[in-house]
Amino acid sequence: MKRNNIVLIGFMGVGKGTTARLVAKKSGMMAVDTDDLIESLTKKPIRKIFEKRGEAYFRALEQRVADWLATSVENTIISTGGGFYKVERLGEIGTIIYLRASFEWIYNRIALHPNAKAKFAKRPLFKEKKRARELYESRKTAYDAAADVIIDVENKSNEELLEEIFRLECFSLKHR
Ligand code: S3P
Repeated sequence: MKRNNIVLIGFMGVGKGTTARLVAKKSGMMAVDTDDLIESLTKKPIRKIFEKRGEAYFRALEQRVADWLATSVENTIISTGGGFYKVERLGEIGTIIYLRASFEWIYNRIALHPNAKAKFAKRPLFKEKKRARELYESRKTAYDAAADVIIDVENKSNEELLEEIFRLECFSLKHR
């Protein structure tokens, strides 16, 4: 059974958090972010968790967050870390929307941001462009497979993107 949530998956920097906040603002739904939940659970930034405890520990925390979302959260728009699509019972949390864009577009979205340095620094898996591109390539089809809905976000305005999301059946059913 799927819960009454919307879950945004996709590669680092594609705009999952921004989109979730915009949807929340317009719809009145609550927005939560899985990385934020992990940071409040551990009281440590993601970068530090990777440094001190390693990736496997971080993935176990993602699973803990997923289990909580799948049993305890309703009517919420959930933005996720780029690797969250791999958790067990993902589909039970809600309708899974993959925000899709090309690697170059994503890279430029971060690199051209006024706060680019901090945006790269907080993402341990985006330290080297070449490695990040390989990770992107290795995940592409898995994101497709995990998604109930795919939305191409490249070169779309926030307004166009929101319109597309609010048109989805999962959304109109929820707010009828
Ligand atoms: C990760 C993406 C990050 C964060 C962590 C690992 C990944 O989140 O969860 O650094 O494996 O792709 P964003 O997608 O919000 O950058």
